[in-house]
Amino acid sequence: ATTRYEAETSPATCTGTIDSDWTGYSGSGFCNGTNASGAYAQFTVTAPASGTATLRIRFANGTTTARPAALIVNGSTVQTPSFEGTGAWSTWVTKTVTVPLNAGSNTIRLNPTTSAGLPNLDYVEV
Ligand code: GCU
Repeated sequence: ATTRYEAETSPATCTGTIDSDWTGYSGSGFCNGTNASGAYAQFTVTAPASGTATLRIRFANGTTTARPAALIVNGSTVQTPSFEGTGAWSTWVTKTVTVPLNAGSNTIRLNPTTSAGLPNLDYVEV
């Protein structure tokens, strides 16, 4: 089973604002992270068992420049997805990555590697 964790729903945290001005998001809004390298969005997800899991990240990037971000799982960077331009802020794309998870609670943080900051983030699914 897949569980969806909305970026606007506690315990998720977003260093910018929760916005709803671009259509197509799930739930009640999305994380518009601060346009700075110190920005982050963090999710707490639960896994039934330790091992690799498929993580789906839904985002929009209405610029033509990728917004790479470190994908930090339980404090360790596991990869740096690019979060390329999606064509419009209202065009949401789901990126699928594989991550190592512990049984039980895990923190997943996205921390941009450039001062442009994060793409807009809608949710993650595990
Ligand atoms: C625009 C857009 C925001 C987006 C921002 C950005 O202001 O309306 O939704 O977050 O650009 O560049 O990050």
